[in-house]
Amino acid sequence: MTRSQQGTLSERVTDALSDRDLTVVSNRQPYAHDYDDGEISVSRPAGGLTAGLDPVMQRTEGTWIAWGDGDADFEVADEDGRVRVPPDDPSYTLSRVRLSEEDVEGYYYGYSNRALWPICHGMIGTARCDGRDFERYRAVNRRFADAVVEQIDEGLVWFQDYHFGLAPRMVRESAEDAVLAQFWHIPWPTWDTFRICPPAEAIVSSLLANDLLVFHTREYVHNFLECVAEAVPEATVDRVSGTVRHRGNATTVVAFPLGVDAARIGELAERDAWPDLEARHELEDRTIALGVDRLDYTKGIPERIYALERFFEDHPDQRGELTYVQKGTGSREEIAAYQHLQERVDRAIDRVNGRFETDDWQPIVRVEEHLPKEELYALYRHSDLALVTPLRDGMNLVAKEFVAAQLDRRGVLLLSEFAGAHEELGDDAVTINPYDTQGSPTPSIGRSRSPRRSDASA
Ligand code: F6P
Repeated sequence: MTRSQQGTLSERVTDALSDRDLTVVSNRQPYAHDYDDGEISVSRPAGGLTAGLDPVMQRTEGTWIAWGDGDADFEVADEDGRVRVPPDDPSYTLSRVRLSEEDVEGYYYGYSNRALWPICHGMIGTARCDGRDFERYRAVNRRFADAVVEQIDEGLVWFQDYHFGLAPRMVRESAEDAVLAQFWHIPWPTWDTFRICPPAEAIVSSLLANDLLVFHTREYVHNFLECVAEAVPEATVDRVSGTVRHRGNATTVVAFPLGVDAARIGELAERDAWPDLEARHELEDRTIALGVDRLDYTKGIPERIYALERFFEDHPDQRGELTYVQKGTGSREEIAAYQHLQERVDRAIDRVNGRFETDDWQPIVRVEEHLPKEELYALYRHSDLALVTPLRDGMNLVAKEFVAAQLDRRGVLLLSEFAGAHEELGDDAVTINPYDTQGSPTPSIGRSRSPRRSDASA
């Protein structure tokens, strides 16, 4: 009997979870321990993935395997890198994998973020595919796979994202009966694009060792199934049910768009914890347009600023009336493309401010400080416009957070047609093409790539 004949996927997942034997594998860890003035302090990395999965783990009491990137991480862990978390009320085990500088350079900055990231976002000109990086990526995937195999019996393993393109096959080879699932949080491109990523076939084939493979949108599911047909010709692809049969395994490929906790965001936004920004007086009585981004070249930030420049040129009456707030968080700063982006953004903002500012008005206000959630959501709530304009984005939760934080207000979401969130929110947003910095917004009607879902998260 092959594995695909041993009960339905949901029966096997339910069985696995009833034993509370869930193992999550991600690159980022949910809690980091660092030295702070000689004392050890705990922090929670920014990012929706870890924040979203932590409550799940607290309920299932399983194990979370992740890179221990804090400088005091292994001080507080046992000899196997294990520590109980959350620190103030432990309910599950965080199992830290120690990576050397060379590992981080080749696996994280290298293959994950200089090759896979730009390729999956369709920015092939930015991709750097170095065979040594791929070898590190493979070696680190092996380390994570070994860590998984060491501690699972027949439970459910849930891989997160593109950092683990090879680990599922490695785990499957040692743990035939494990239930494996993976959420690929970034876009999946067409085969013409993905195939430039050597060796693309190995990644596609490894992902088929999962029982369940999840993307944010139906477009990415469609692209993945087409890639399977090209890269793994011996696999059988059923495009209607989204099932792929390969090497005695059946993989269900589905779109489950990630949502946000809209009720919680609404609650926090309602507290009106307006942040004490340096530029607070700039915003009073003005129309506020807001952009909240990790500083990534996929987010379309320079293009957005060129579009604003054009807007102030063409609409002099709006000078002094509308202020754009750019909340940016630094990211992957060791990679040259991210350093260039930072310079481009700074130059563009300085140019627009230099051209249009007056004694009592600054067109673009930067917010660089970390804002606690309730202050961030108050900023969302009091903004009249959110500019969510990525050139390509797996989902983009800022769009959903903005909608959830508006409460009784009727702010407008300008949303790129190239964000995964557009599949759900496109009908209610003003659709824009982020490359078209001089264009008018496109009427949304009929523009979303798929029918509106009634269960959109926000
Ligand atoms: O969107 C993909 C993703 O890996 C998210 O899960 C994460 O929040 C974000 O990119 C940040 O990436 P990094 O962990 O490289 O800082």
